[in-house]
Amino acid sequence: MSAAIPFAEDDTAKNNFLSRRQAIRSYVLRAGRMTEAQKRAIEELGPLHVLPFGEELLKPSDIYPESKPLVLEIGFGMGLATWQIALERSEYNYLGVEVHGPGVGRLLMEIRDRSISNLKIIQHDAVEVLESMISPDSLAGLHIFYPDPWPKKRHHKRRLLRPDLVELMASRLALGGYLYFVTDIEDYAEQALETLQACGSLKNAYEGFAPRIEWRPRTKFEGRAMVESRPSFELYFLRA
Ligand SMILES: C[S@@+](CC[C@H](N)C(=O)[O-])C[C@H]1O[C@@H](n2cnc3c(N)ncnc32)[C@H](O)[C@@H]1O
Repeated sequence: MSAAIPFAEDDTAKNNFLSRRQAIRSYVLRAGRMTEAQKRAIEELGPLHVLPFGEELLKPSDIYPESKPLVLEIGFGMGLATWQIALERSEYNYLGVEVHGPGVGRLLMEIRDRSISNLKIIQHDAVEVLESMISPDSLAGLHIFYPDPWPKKRHHKRRLLRPDLVELMASRLALGGYLYFVTDIEDYAEQALETLQACGSLKNAYEGFAPRIEWRPRTKFEGRAMVESRPSFELYFLRA
């Protein structure tokens, strides 16, 4: 299995490569107002369910009460689909990664109210989490639902489904692990299909786009797309 970062022997080259990649973030931190309840959830529940970002590899056995395959979600937003999936597909452990504070607060309230034990959160750039905290060949699945579309051509380099990040994602999946991506932006969907197909260690589980996978609940952004009559495009690839 090739490492995501091709500079294992040379720290200077590796650091330059990382800082170039990290300079092009896939998000902009919005000022987004937190409700009092969200703030309180972060203060009171954060210590129980939010893991600190760190440079050390995560050891799921130290974190979750039961040992199960781990699925990571990049950018859960307000976490509407996240907690439903954690409850309904409880044969997995989940790690939701999001930079947006109000969403973290909201999801923490759901974890408390529904007594969810197989879901933890990291509030940090998911790219850095994948690079630093997730062992190669370890994830059972990766969810990316309605990522920021970055519609302007000059911003396409910020999209999560760009070739170097797809290589990184693929490298963190275990053999047979899945990458499940959904967007309502047609040109992003086409670009994502092309990029995933070009990744040597991923294989499309379907011919082109996938049908809607029956267990995926509707997300907040999907609701918005439906109101605006935009269809969704699903991609489901397996680590080969
Ligand atoms: C358009 S929203 C979609 C949210 C949710 N998945 C949904 O469908 O409702 C995209 C989310 O991804 C988050 N995001 C984008 N890049 C990220 C990254 N590198 N790490 C963590 N979160 C990220 C943003 O903060 C934002 O909340």
